[in-house]
Amino acid sequence: MGKKALVTGVTGQDGAYLAALLLSKGYEVHGLVRPSSTKSTERLSAYLDKITLHYGDLSDGGVITRLLQNIQPDEIYNLAAQSHVHISFDMAEYTGNVDGLGVTRLLETIRSLNLIDKVKFYQASTSELFGKTQISPQNENTPFAPCSPYAAAKLYAYWMVRNYRDTYGLFACNGILFNHESPLRGENFVTRKVTQFAADIARGQKKTLALGNLEARRDWGHAEDFVRGMWLMLQADEADDYVLATGQTHTVRYLVETAFKQIDISIDWIGAALDEKGVNSRTGETLIEISKDHFRPAEVDLLRGDSSKARQKLGWEKKYDFETLIKEMVEADLGREITPEETRVNLRAV
Ligand code: NAP
Ligand code: GDD
Repeated sequence: MGKKALVTGVTGQDGAYLAALLLSKGYEVHGLVRPSSTKSTERLSAYLDKITLHYGDLSDGGVITRLLQNIQPDEIYNLAAQSHVHISFDMAEYTGNVDGLGVTRLLETIRSLNLIDKVKFYQASTSELFGKTQISPQNENTPFAPCSPYAAAKLYAYWMVRNYRDTYGLFACNGILFNHESPLRGENFVTRKVTQFAADIARGQKKTLALGNLEARRDWGHAEDFVRGMWLMLQADEADDYVLATGQTHTVRYLVETAFKQIDISIDWIGAALDEKGVNSRTGETLIEISKDHFRPAEVDLLRGDSSKARQKLGWEKKYDFETLIKEMVEADLGREITPEETRVNLRAV
C-alpha cells in the first residue's frame, strides 16, 4: 500500500504542486483546507477527485488532533501559513499564531498521539529568516536576522522543529526555501503581479502598474523544482535542515524587464526614487510607477542561496532558470484570459 501524506496549505501554490508530485508517486493524499464561503480549491481543480480534503485551521488545536488521529499519516508537509511578508506587518499577532504557534500545535499533537516514531514532518521554513544578514550567499550555517513579523514567527517555528527533532527524536526537517514562483503564484507577490500586468498590457487592457522597491534582489526559482526538494528531505536516511535555492539573484527591476521582453516591449527607466517610471521604449507610454504603499516598514535587500548541501546529500537540482520561469508565467497569464475554463493551469505530474 502507498504512503499517506497530509499536506497543510494544500490550496496554496506549493500545496498544489506538492499534491501533484505525491499523487504521481502513489501516495494517498490528504489536504487541510480552511472553511471558506468562496471556492479556495481552484489550484487543485485537476486533482480534486484524487485528494481527500479536510476542513481545519492551524489556529485550532482540536481539529488538528482529530485529523492526525483519524488519518495516521506517514508524512506531514506543513505548508500552511499567512505567507505574505508585507501583510504580516499589519497582521503580526495573527501571523504569529498561524506561522509560529500553528507549528507547535502540530508538533505537540504528534507527540501526544505517540506518532513520534511513525510520522515524518516537513516544515516550510524560509530564506526570510536571513533577513538583514550581510552574508551572501546564505547557507544552513548563516546566522539568522529576521526583520518582519512573518520571519520572526517562522524563526520560532524553525527552532521548535529542531527541538522536537533533538529532544524527542522526531524525523523533522526545515526546508529553508528561497523564493519560488509559478503560474499558480498568488497574485499579490511581485512576480505574478508583474507577469499578470505584462499579459494585460499585451491585450491592451491596463495602463500602469504601481510597484515598490525595484532594487530588492531575490533568488527566484520554480515551485515545481522546490516541492521535489521537500519530498527528497523526507526520503533521506536522517532528518536535517536544507537550503533550496537557485544561487542566482535578480532585482525586481530586472524581473520587470524580463517579463516585458516576453511580449516584445523594452523598458526605459526615467526619473528617480518615488518619481521613477518605467516607460515603453518605443512609444514612451508609462507602464510602471512607484508607490510608497508597496514599500515595507523593513526590507530584506538581498537574498541569494547556496544549496550545496541539498545537492550533495539529497541529489537535488533545479531544472528551471529565471528566464524560463518568467516566460512560463507570462504565457500562462496570457492564456488564462483567452479561454478561462481550459487554460486554468494544468499541473503536470512532476
Ligand atoms: P500560499 O500560496 O500563500 O499558500 C498558503 C496556504 O496556507 C494556503 O493553502 C492557505 O489557505 C493556507 N493557510 C493560510 N492560513 C491558514 C490557516 N490559519 N490554517 C490553515 N491553512 C492556512 O503559499 P506558498 O507560496 O504555497 O508557500 C507555502 C509555504 O511555504 C508557506 O508556509 C510559506 O510561508 C512558505 N514559503 C514559501 C516560499 C515561496 O517563495 N513560495 C518560500 C519560502 C517559504 P487559503 O487557500 O485558504 O488561503
Ligand atoms: N509583493 C510585492 N508587491 N513586492 C514588491 C512590490 C510589490 O508591488 N514592489 C517591490 N516588491 C519587492 C518586495 O519589497 C520584496 O523585496 C520583493 O519584491 C519580493 O516580494 P514578494 O514577492 O512579496 O515576496 P517576499 O520575498 O517578500 O516573500 C516571499 O518569499 C519568501 C522567501 O524568501 C513569500 O513567498 C514568503 O512566504 C517566503 O517566505
